[in-house]
Amino acid sequence: MDNYKHLPEPFRVRVVEPVKTTTEEYRKEKIEKAGMNPFLLDSEDVFIDLLTDSGTGAITQSMQAAMLMGDEAYSGSRSYYALANAVKKIFDYDLTIPTHQGRGAEQLYIPVLIAKREKEKGLDRDKMVAFSNYFFDTTQGHTQVNCCVAKNVYVEEAFDTSTHADFKGNFDLDKLEQGILEVGPKNVPYIISTITCNSAGGQPVSIANLKAVYEIAQRYDIPVIMDSARYAENAYFIQQREPGYQDWSIEDITLETYKYADALAMSAKKDAMVQMGGLMCFKNESMFEVYTECRTLCVVQEGFPTYGGLEGGAMERLAVGLYEAMRQEWLEYRIGQIEYLVSGLESIGVVCQQAGGHAAFVDAGKLLPHIPSDQFPAHALACELYKVAGIRAVEIGSMLLGRDPATGKQHPCPAELLRLTIPRATYTQTHMDFVIEAFERVKNNAENIKGLEFTYEPKVLRHFTARLKEVN
Ligand code: F0G
Repeated sequence: MDNYKHLPEPFRVRVVEPVKTTTEEYRKEKIEKAGMNPFLLDSEDVFIDLLTDSGTGAITQSMQAAMLMGDEAYSGSRSYYALANAVKKIFDYDLTIPTHQGRGAEQLYIPVLIAKREKEKGLDRDKMVAFSNYFFDTTQGHTQVNCCVAKNVYVEEAFDTSTHADFKGNFDLDKLEQGILEVGPKNVPYIISTITCNSAGGQPVSIANLKAVYEIAQRYDIPVIMDSARYAENAYFIQQREPGYQDWSIEDITLETYKYADALAMSAKKDAMVQMGGLMCFKNESMFEVYTECRTLCVVQEGFPTYGGLEGGAMERLAVGLYEAMRQEWLEYRIGQIEYLVSGLESIGVVCQQAGGHAAFVDAGKLLPHIPSDQFPAHALACELYKVAGIRAVEIGSMLLGRDPATGKQHPCPAELLRLTIPRATYTQTHMDFVIEAFERVKNNAENIKGLEFTYEPKVLRHFTARLKEVN
């Protein structure tokens, strides 16, 4: 807006949720009680909750109003058609199944695509590998639960917090094609393009890269699924950074983006701003058989396929949220807020991944070099940040990555990051200033922060429920 230093919140706040302030002594007791795991804290005891942007943001008045229009019919609900029409208009995809959230979509398409490849191409279940620029943890989880190896093929600069690049979320195309040839194309049931690439720091993927991935996939007749939680943020980065798209609207970029996949799976709790909701959609009739199989699975796992896991009102809310996500000034403000936080942290010497879409990713490995990766520096930083300021953040590092199920060895982790995830339209610039000030305190005491070891380590997705203690 007219070259002001900051675009302030392009909305007015009309409903507020009071939060409790606490003392450092209180928080120290709480985090110890929670087994040094911020996931196990009560939200009541958190002052600024940056655990996730998933289902935690504000919704718009139009979304709220749409909720009242729900048709709660068990089948063929009017609200289902409102949602399917929005999907058709925004992504140009013909076939829609609502799901309760992103992982609801994953539990449908992953087993179906594996079975299809087995039937049609003779896939060998002992050798199957799926590829992504980076699997989100539940997507990786569903892939592994179906006994398929999940392989990330990201560009070299993706996790290098000392370099800047426009599209750190891109696939390494050579690695992708080599990988396919190594395992044999028949053993690759699907490729997942994750936009933005959450695990690499909310980094965008260019249209050129998505198009090249799709071309490779078509060469070997492998379906591409767009993991779409942050489709609008990705489109905004394309508009700002990719040559040729500066004059395109977010809507047009989104339509172009979705040409380069066969299906989309979406956690609608992010860009689409709903508290709960997801989508599984297919481009056209070429995916009709997969769509039909997913519908059948949907009945037993999510609900009848015209409501998936969602009530009618929730489908109406999502149909509106899908459009609201693409507001130009909204995206400018949101990405600007992340940039403000990242540059504030860097100005006090806290190294971050270059600003991405939904979060600041602090390089905890650099801030706490005395803590080895098997004592989880980013998780230790999360606990300290909570103690110092009541801020809850989440580790994206060795703890989350976990162990190789075959060998039991810790997977080597490309970077020890702490994610400060910003819910949409929820926190202001004052909150960002407070976070930066808290980091100043943490940094001044950095050498006294201790590493952590498990007192309880779950076998899968351990970061959610693990308990730990400080290493002496
Ligand atoms: N894909 C991506 C890229 C995600 O970021 C998420 C969730 C999912 C799939 C799964 O969707 O939670 O609706 O079942 N990410 C959240 C996060 C949880 O905090 O980044 P879900």
